[in-house]
Amino acid sequence: MEIIHISAECYPIAKVGGLADVVGALPKYQNKAGKKSAVIMPYYKTKFTQNNMLKSDHKGTVSLGSLIYDFEVFSLDNETLGYPLYLVKIPDLMDRDNVYGYNDDTERYLAFQKAVLNWIVQFQDKPKIVHCHDYHTGLIPFMMLYAHKYQSLRKTPTILTIHNAQYQGQFSFDKLNYFPEYDLSNSGMLEWDQMINPLAAAVKCAWAITTVSPSYLIELRSSANGMEWLLDNEKEKSIGILNGIDTEVWNPATDPMILKKFNKQNSLSGKRKNKLFLCKKFNLDPKNPLFAFIGRLVGEKGAELLPEIFDQILKNKNLNASILVLGSGDPEIEKALNKIKPLHKGKYNTYIGYDETLSHIIYAGADYLVMPSKVEPCGLNQMYSLRYGTIPIVRSIGGLKDTIVDISEENGFGICHDNTEVDEAVEAIQRASDLYNDQSKFKKIRKQIMLIDHSWGNAANKYIDLYNKLI
Ligand code: ADP
Ligand code: GLC
Repeated sequence: MEIIHISAECYPIAKVGGLADVVGALPKYQNKAGKKSAVIMPYYKTKFTQNNMLKSDHKGTVSLGSLIYDFEVFSLDNETLGYPLYLVKIPDLMDRDNVYGYNDDTERYLAFQKAVLNWIVQFQDKPKIVHCHDYHTGLIPFMMLYAHKYQSLRKTPTILTIHNAQYQGQFSFDKLNYFPEYDLSNSGMLEWDQMINPLAAAVKCAWAITTVSPSYLIELRSSANGMEWLLDNEKEKSIGILNGIDTEVWNPATDPMILKKFNKQNSLSGKRKNKLFLCKKFNLDPKNPLFAFIGRLVGEKGAELLPEIFDQILKNKNLNASILVLGSGDPEIEKALNKIKPLHKGKYNTYIGYDETLSHIIYAGADYLVMPSKVEPCGLNQMYSLRYGTIPIVRSIGGLKDTIVDISEENGFGICHDNTEVDEAVEAIQRASDLYNDQSKFKKIRKQIMLIDHSWGNAANKYIDLYNKLI
């Protein structure tokens, strides 16, 4: 193992959002580029862990204060994954049905991070790079630098990739006894706003920081949930690298999850069949352009505005639209999205929940994907949507700004608006509806977007260049 990626999520083992897609793809493309990369993540009770034969590689113990937990590392060298996978099982603590959302998540992820270090510290051949993703693994760079027990890892370069700085995992200094012994004069490296802050600790201690798009890196200096100053201060070691997408998983020509496979040559008939299937399934009028939303129903995604945006669109007599929402999250938003259903029968529907297969079917069958995000560190949905010939309507922020060019600009192919506001999003959808009425332009753009290359090759190499510099 030259490079180890440590993460709470990884597709197809356990996925909550885009973090899983990135950690499930980047190491595969790094291996293809000749850099031996592996993934270490917690063992949860998911379909994947239940259905695969795992090999026990290591047994150890990990302590949290006076509590001692056994842990076991399982491995899977699976051709289709494209990288060696290591799962750290901590009975009772980590192996649960869900990834996050438990009262003891602080304890769970601290134990996971310590177990990982307890395991790798006794390797003969140490990894060349330890690559941490988001706050769940953010205490690792601190512990590698300062904990006496992990002294032999001190010279191993660490990288933190920030997928989302909204979530920082803060907890009180009362839990300092969970940490391995270190010289207490270094406690400042853990602290932000009088709390132990795993994301801030990683920003301070990692040798390099990456964000998942160049624009997000700049935006974080003025909006980072309280960490703006710190991120500005660490800009010399920071770089924005736009995520790629796994073009083997997300390929409309081979996708086993969609009804009718298609490529750019037969995209018209292919998309039509998928749209008809989707509209029938959700009782939507297929003659109208089909607008879809897929995502977590949270403030960051602008999701609380969706009921009002969609209601206004559907009440507009001069505009034809069918709308479908796939998402889950804030129960209030879920309720509000369902509440307008009876008002717009045959034109509006929702699926409240998480359904990976349905997401593929929607990317394949929709005409437009709506993303009025307030914050979007990268966003993968718009890139999947491009590949499946679905035109994105986005608020220009973060990765959306870096990937989507408005149709009013030269060679533009998407619809952009500046702010997450109902009026602006409604106007953008109206522009999309006008474009739909000009079918020859619409079809030309549809073909154009399917050719845009967001595969991982380029981004994987940028990470490799960074590794080489650090090594
Ligand atoms: P984030 O990680 O902030 O949620 P991204 O755009 O990076 O946003 O990635 C979201 C990923 O999760 C995409 O693969 C998207 O298709 C998927 N996704 C989000 N919500 C759902 C859902 N309810 N059902 C299926 N897939 C979903
Ligand atoms: C985070 C971000 C999202 C990004 C994903 C993968 O969940 O919210 O914008 O695409 O991570 O990096």
